[in-house]
Amino acid sequence: MKSAYRPHSMSRKKDPIELFHSGQLVKVCAPMVRYSKLAFRTLVRKYSCDLCYTPMIVAADFVQSVKARDSEFTTNQGDCPLIVQFAANDARLLSDAARIVCPYANGIDINCGCPQR
Ligand SMILES: Cc1cc2nc3c(=O)[nH]c(=O)nc-3n(C[C@H](O)[C@H](O)[C@H](O)COP(=O)(O)O)c2cc1C
Repeated sequence: MKSAYRPHSMSRKKDPIELFHSGQLVKVCAPMVRYSKLAFRTLVRKYSCDLCYTPMIVAADFVQSVKARDSEFTTNQGDCPLIVQFAANDARLLSDAARIVCPYANGIDINCGCPQR
C-alpha cells in the first residue's frame, strides 16, 4: 500500500450498502486470488461492474510485513467502491488489518469459504 495513494472519499454514492438499497441490479466482481487485483478491477469497472472485491489477503502477513502489504494491495482513486477481503484466524490481526486498510476501502470481508490454516 504505497503512501502516495490518497484515501477514498467515502461519498454516499460509493457506499456499497446504498448500492444494494438502490433497487437496481448490482454487478459485483467476486474475490479471486491472483486475479482480482487493481488491473483486473480497473478492467471490469470499465464494463460497468458496480462493486469490486480484492483477492483474499492473509491478514497476518498484511499486518506484519510492509513488503507483503505493498505487493498484496494496490489501489487508486478510481478503484471505488472496493471491498477488501481477508483470511484470518485471529480477531486481533483481522481488526488490525482492517484498521490499516480502511482509509482505502468501502468495506471489509472475511473469507469463510476457502480452506485456510
Ligand atoms: C480463480 C479463483 C479464485 C478465487 N478466489 C477467491 C477468494 O480469494 N476469495 C473468495 O471468497 N472466493 C474466491 N473464489 C470464489 C469466487 O469468489 C466465486 O465465489 C466463485 O467463483 C463463484 O462465482 P459465481 O457465483 O459467479 O460462479 C475464487 C474463484 C476462482 C475461480
